[in-house]
Amino acid sequence: MNYRLTFYLLLAGFVVLSCSSNNSNTGTATKQDQTNKEVPTESGKKSPDYAIKKVELNNPLDATMVEDGKGIAELKCTSCHSLEENRLVGPGWKGITTRRKPEWIMNMITNVDMMLAEDEEAQKLLEECLVRMPNQNISVADSRSILEFMRHNDGEN
Ligand code: HEC
Repeated sequence: MNYRLTFYLLLAGFVVLSCSSNNSNTGTATKQDQTNKEVPTESGKKSPDYAIKKVELNNPLDATMVEDGKGIAELKCTSCHSLEENRLVGPGWKGITTRRKPEWIMNMITNVDMMLAEDEEAQKLLEECLVRMPNQNISVADSRSILEFMRHNDGEN
């Protein structure tokens, strides 16, 4: 067998292999898109828990969650969000819990990419602020604590 033939045979084998693996990949991706509607985050990681549909609010506030939420916010959020009404990079948080539903706020915190792709209110904010809020991989539990802190910031007890 001469060199050139071996080369073509190898090449043909490679093409067949790569095509078949491509096919199976697109197959899974489409299926996932339809069933879980998983959207890749900026980091390329799948974020499965974007659709928070129902949040039970407790009264009075849970002091531990308020503290936890405050800690996370100071670490990851307050460089862009003030606790007053004024805008820094993103909108100020004062009054947010009366403007927005708890579910909307938590979806925004846990899956901003999906919200900017699909939610008109979020898209309006992007137009106003001209900056995309980065996805920071906040868990649902942590987003719930941040919400509790926001309620506290809005004067709830
Ligand atoms: C790099 C700046 C930046 C950081 C950090 C950031 N955000 Fe944002 N955020 C924005 C911008 C800009 C918007 C509005 C436009 C958009 O959504 O992209 C926004 C919008 C929001 C909104 C909707 C505000 C409203 O008035 O309805 C919420 C809620 C929110 N962010 C929560 C958070 C939380 C919680 C954190 C921390 C875990 C955080 N953000 C960190 C920039 C940031």
